[in-house]
Amino acid sequence: MTRPLPTIIAASQAASQRLADRHTPFIMNDWYVAAFGTEVKDQLLARTLLGQRVVMYRTSKQQVVALEDRCPHRSMPLSAGTLEQDSIVCAYHGFRFNTEGNCIEVPSQSSCPHNVGIKAYPTHERGPVVWIWMGEPDQADLSKLPPQDWLQDPQWETSQGYLHLKASYVRLHENLLDLTHLSFLHAKSFGTPDYAKATFESELGDGRFALLRNVVPTTLPPVWGVPTGLTGTGQAARIVRSEYRSIGLHEVSVSFYDCHLPEAERQTFRIRTAHMPTPETATSTHYFIVHGRDFAQQDAATTQFMHDQLFVAFQEDVDGLALQEQALAATLPEDLYEFSVASDGPAVAMRRHVLARQHQEANARTALK
Ligand code: FES
Ligand SMILES: [Fe+2]
Repeated sequence: MTRPLPTIIAASQAASQRLADRHTPFIMNDWYVAAFGTEVKDQLLARTLLGQRVVMYRTSKQQVVALEDRCPHRSMPLSAGTLEQDSIVCAYHGFRFNTEGNCIEVPSQSSCPHNVGIKAYPTHERGPVVWIWMGEPDQADLSKLPPQDWLQDPQWETSQGYLHLKASYVRLHENLLDLTHLSFLHAKSFGTPDYAKATFESELGDGRFALLRNVVPTTLPPVWGVPTGLTGTGQAARIVRSEYRSIGLHEVSVSFYDCHLPEAERQTFRIRTAHMPTPETATSTHYFIVHGRDFAQQDAATTQFMHDQLFVAFQEDVDGLALQEQALAATLPEDLYEFSVASDGPAVAMRRHVLARQHQEANARTALK
């Protein structure tokens, strides 16, 4: 048997204790995507975010409201109620709650008790997504939103989609920071055999972690070969930067060009993907995705072609991570060990950072008590 010696397993388990995983409590004081803006309408939308039930809606002035989804009278979900004049009327006894979560009407009496409201979460709509702050409201600071300017830039033609992942959001961030899996998990979609062996560089630090990979020369899969015209065998350069920007946003930027043409003569085609994981529970994740390109703008057929092909690949991640989660759940803690290799560097650093942040947050809460 090739299982390592018990001392090696113990050392690996000790190292894993320093990494965030599905057991790590959520980081509350940060921005996460709650929904695409198009999902939030003048009707009640229920969603569990960071383990908490939230109800969202859009007011007559187009503001997005996010409230705790539980009536403080007898705990009926407010999302089962009705939206009337920008406030929610509970389905059970008709108590009414305004956009700040305050109870403003009790039908069975003339006055409403004070201070019997529910949590109202700060939200911020930017480009196609609605961000939410589930932690301390007075710490909700828009300067903490990660850079994402291209999501609103008309130079970028975008499409968006949502996947429900039956795995921890930590493992999704890990997946995105190590794209060696393209040659295997995505062998039938957008991976190529040379991808895993291409040289890479890591950038670590300051809450951002990136893996850079130059795959040159390479043959592009159809999702990019067809729209760029770079369909020849070994014709293309594929230059990839995959970056954890915040707990709620990972961005992949890729440039393609004809690697046989001199620099002055070649066109560079750029694509970007915003991967926005928001924990639903410890082992399930809302996976919001916006994909963009800076070429073939306003070409609806190309948008649809790329979108369909990409979501086949992203579904492969969702399926693979769900299998990984099942295997983790089925392994006894004393038997569980994982070892890392060089290309795991950014992902390991990211998981250390997430755990350290969670410890900081817990310590700050304890200090306040
Ligand atoms: S449970 Fe909501 S009004 Fe009674
Ligand atoms: Fe993937």
